[in-house]
This record gives sequence, structure tokens and C-alpha cells, in this order.
Amino acid sequence: MGDKERIRIFDTTLRDGEQAPGYSMNLEEKLRIASRLQALGVDIIEAGFAIASPGDFESVREIARHVDGPVVASLARALEKDLDAAGEAVKEARRPRIHLFLATSDLHLEYKLKMTREHALEQVRKMVTYARNLCDDIEFSAEDASRSDLDYLCKVVETAIASGATTINLPDTVGYSLPHELERMVRTVHTSVPNMDKAILSVHNHNDLGFAVANSLAGVMGGARQVECTLCGIGERAGNASLEEFVMAVKTRGDVLPYDTGIDTREITKSARLLSSITGVSVFPSKAIVGTNAFAHESGIHQHGMMANAKTYEIMTPESVGLKKTALVLGKHSGQHAFVKRLEELGYSLPHERIPALFEDFKITADRKKTITDRDLIALVESSSTGA
Ligand code: KIV
Ligand code: ZN
Repeated sequence: MGDKERIRIFDTTLRDGEQAPGYSMNLEEKLRIASRLQALGVDIIEAGFAIASPGDFESVREIARHVDGPVVASLARALEKDLDAAGEAVKEARRPRIHLFLATSDLHLEYKLKMTREHALEQVRKMVTYARNLCDDIEFSAEDASRSDLDYLCKVVETAIASGATTINLPDTVGYSLPHELERMVRTVHTSVPNMDKAILSVHNHNDLGFAVANSLAGVMGGARQVECTLCGIGERAGNASLEEFVMAVKTRGDVLPYDTGIDTREITKSARLLSSITGVSVFPSKAIVGTNAFAHESGIHQHGMMANAKTYEIMTPESVGLKKTALVLGKHSGQHAFVKRLEELGYSLPHERIPALFEDFKITADRKKTITDRDLIALVESSSTGA
């Protein structure tokens, strides 16, 4: 750990993640995810949006009662009735937080909120003050921050902090920013808001252009010390920044990213599997870190390299994310080394002279089938003239 700076992980699987079509969860399922997130070591669990429905209120309240360790937050619009519901839902948490938001881009102000900039600034002042009377830990999000006028955004942030916000979140709500733009926004707020030292700066990136994790890293480089993310990157539209990708990037590239998270990375695979089994949505095989192919190798050249030294083709160990071992998958791209090794693992030690013909048969079978199972291999050996 040493002198690395700590990045807080704010998990919103149960709020922004659950908002995505196909990911709704019931109370019992949400409680199971919440205790998984606790085991994973996240710093903050956003348990839901208390005012959204009686079911959401109940879920936030139950999670607040059960969780021991992470802060438990509820989302709220910058409205008294939302803040009352959020405050009520999290009040039994050991460490409660109210997370309120108001849009700051002209587009949202004009078409969605029908407010002037001045009116919105006043609403921030009033509603953050109101929230602070309900709870000591207040996060304010400037929705659509990345498309907001930067001078105005700084004014809003300064007002929110002066009114009692302890965390300031700058969402890229529609996943529009490029990494250098995101970094610039965060750096500008970090260096030019006079009372910024009184709050933690946070980023919340959506993945519409596929930059959510890259933008989260850019945000950290600009001065953010909280990152909002979800398991497997689930969330509105193309999703949010993926927790496992951000955390493993920080862990794997410690040479250029001098930060730590409190995540026990060995719990990552188990957490992704739980989410998938609860929602019934399977993880894309090529998904970084948690896809079934993330630690699998089929090509002969790669398998040969892996057998000599795993570092040739793996930048992190499967054990570091809670997997037992790398899968050397046999298929038409595999080489003789991996073929013989797997046969040995299956108990066959074949005389040298038999291998070329068997390997040829294996390639013919592999051309026909997408993957070769142990049963296929056994059949191949057993059906060949002399057996082993
Ligand atoms: O994407 C967003 O702007 C949000 C806020 C409510 C934090 O989810
Ligand atoms: Zn969001």
C-alpha cells in the first residue's frame, strides 16, 4: 500500500445498474448483492432511489439495516420530498449518505427542468442545506456536468460545498466526453473552486462511446478521489464504468497509476457470477476481467508461451480475480505442446511415434467442432489402433 493515494469505490449496481432494462431485482436479491459488495470491499453502496417506489424505499431501508462497513446511500432529486424519503430510508445505516442531484447543462436546464442558471444555483443552495440537516454525509451530483458551461459548473460546485456537501460528483451522464476533456473538466474544478479542499471530488461515467473506464482513470488523474461504477458495467443504455475493469487497471498498472482501492480483487469473479445468476443475463465471453475468455488461450503460439511463462500472454493472474487457473482451451488453433500436455493430464502417456498421427486426427476433429472437450480427446485416443 505505502504512499499510494486511496480511491474510494462507490458502487451503484443497485441504483444506476438496476435502472437498465432486464436488471430489476427484488429485495432478497438486492440484499444478496449488497452483502457481496461488502465482501468485495466497496466504500459506498448506492442502494437505490428511495422515492422511486415503495419497493425501492424498502430495499434501501433493508440494505441500510444490514450493511456493516460501507456507507449506504440513497439517490434523491433536489426536492424536499425526495430528500425526506432518502433521509428516512438510510437513517438506520451505520454510515448513511444522501446523494442528491440537479442538472447543470443549459440543455437540461432549458428543456427538462425549465429553470434558469440562477434559479438552479439557488435550488442547489437550498436543497443541499436542507439535506445537510437530515444527514452529515451529503453527495451532490451536477447531472450532465460534462456538457455544462465550466465557469457555471464551478459556481455550482462552490455553492454546494458552501451549503454542506461533502462529496461532489461530476457525471458524464450521456457518455459524451473524451478522456482528455473529462480530465480537463475535473482538473479545472479541482484547481479553481476555492473551497474544493472541503469535499471529495468524484466521477461517474457512462459508456455510450465505450470510454467509461478510460474516463474514470482520466478523472482520477485530474484530481477525483471517488469513482462511481457498477459490477460488469451494467447501467442505463450502454452502462456505467465497470468496477472490475477500473480496479484491475489500477492494480495492474501501479507503475503509472500510484493509487489503491480497498477492493479485495479475489472476490471479483464471485461477485460477477452472483450478479449474472440473479439477473439471468450472462456475461459476454470477451468481457475484460470477468468474461469466460478473459483468462483462456486457444492458439498454439499463446499456449506454448503460457506453458513457458504465463507473463508472456497474461498481464494479471487468474488467482488475483478469484479464478483457480488459466484455461488452455483446445481447438483448431492449438499446438502439439498443449495437446500432449492435456492428454498427460488425462492420464495418457503416449509413445512418441503415435503423437503426429493423433495430432493430425485432433486437427481434423477441431476443424469440425468449435471446441474440443476432454471426452473428444479420450475418444480420439481410444479409437486409435492401439490405445495408450
Ligand atoms: O448519470 C448520471 O448523471 C447519474 C446521476 C444521477 C448521478 O446517474
Ligand atoms: Zn448515471
